[in-house]
Amino acid sequence: MSEEKRATFGGRISAVLVAAGSAVGLGNIWRFPYLAGENGGGAFLVIYLAAVLLIGFPLMISEFSLGTATRHNAVGAFRALNRRWSVVGYMGILSSALILSFYLVVAGWTAEYMVHSVTSDLVSNTDPASYVAAFESFVGHPLKPVIYALIFAVATHLIIVLGVQRGIERASKVMMPVLLLVLLVLAVNSVLMPGGMEGLKFFLKPDFSKITAETILLAVGQAFFSLSIGLGTMITYASYFKSDTSIKQTAMQVTLLDTFVAVMAGLVIFPAVFSAGIEPGSGPSLVFITLPSIFSTLPMSGFWSTIFFLLLVLAALTSTISLHESVTAYVEEEWKLSRTKAARLTTLLTGALAVVASLSLGIWKEYTICGMTFFDSLDYLTANILLPLGAFLTCLFVGWKFDRTLFERQLYPNGIPGREYPLLRFMIRYICPIILFVIFSDNLGLI
Ligand code: PHE
Repeated sequence: MSEEKRATFGGRISAVLVAAGSAVGLGNIWRFPYLAGENGGGAFLVIYLAAVLLIGFPLMISEFSLGTATRHNAVGAFRALNRRWSVVGYMGILSSALILSFYLVVAGWTAEYMVHSVTSDLVSNTDPASYVAAFESFVGHPLKPVIYALIFAVATHLIIVLGVQRGIERASKVMMPVLLLVLLVLAVNSVLMPGGMEGLKFFLKPDFSKITAETILLAVGQAFFSLSIGLGTMITYASYFKSDTSIKQTAMQVTLLDTFVAVMAGLVIFPAVFSAGIEPGSGPSLVFITLPSIFSTLPMSGFWSTIFFLLLVLAALTSTISLHESVTAYVEEEWKLSRTKAARLTTLLTGALAVVASLSLGIWKEYTICGMTFFDSLDYLTANILLPLGAFLTCLFVGWKFDRTLFERQLYPNGIPGREYPLLRFMIRYICPIILFVIFSDNLGLI
């Protein structure tokens, strides 16, 4: 498709907003706190931050440059540059579809919690045990979570067929500043809770004795998941950037914002976890138990929980849009289907998988893959295998195969490389792939 015919976002600010809309989501507010809680708190945070800085940021720049250089979807981008590498694009499309499938389920939970906040029966008492029970009975229900996941799939679908520009841009613009503000208020509130300091210590004081090879892989996988990289989402999004968008600045701002939201989520959750006597290693339920128990202690609890879950729904929606868009753009451009047909196929496939993922936590619990439910195996396969592998191959490609002048032209349209360029290139060529290789080998028990 020619450059003029493709939709573009409305300029620099919007590029940051839509890319941040993709990055900021349940990864920051649901997945990050529960992984940190299960894997040593502060030590996990340190490894996570290192992964964001050393691998995440260079990789985001790499993906952006592939998108602006080719103006194609993930598969098309690799193919346009080097046919043999299009397998990295295919892996990315697969990852996007699989992530979307379980993401819709969790997004559905947030929608259900939002509805219950409005009817104000979510925060009716202060006993954490009752929130655990409520969460488990909801998630295991054969119908309710399935319906919410499907509603989310349809909402995403509608925004996608309305068009890239209008739908995505508008949603991100309103949500981000409000989300930051509410997180800030809640973080201050949590830190001031009785016993909150204990949680702050857990989250901020690293105890490296808890770190294993697997913890490192989990933290790196989470960094990719949270930044939406390693699967070509940012290639697709950058293909819509206006030609004067600064890749470096956009990547920097998105990385900072995404990391800030994750850290804020930790500051909201952990003090409250310790204050209410909740187990930090509760797993995927952690946030869904902790948040209602925070709201129940606040004046106007129904108001706060409604606002918060509404924001979470919107944050999740801007992420599901980006996952859906990656797959839809691929189907539309590579299979030469209309946008509506491409979107319909994507929604049908991921919606069906979402139903299975949701039921795998309830009535189909006993069917497992390598000891994991279908839901857990989708999460594990994508975040801990496909994304790090995709990231590894993308670094190798951009560092060693991608035409150097073309890469430089994406980063420095005025032709003058910045002072950071040699370091950045060194990171992409050597540091990122070597770190990823070592982590993989370590986890496979090879070293
Ligand atoms: N980054 C999103 C989040 O943190 C999830 C996501 C992953 C979106 C990969 C797109 C691609 O919630």
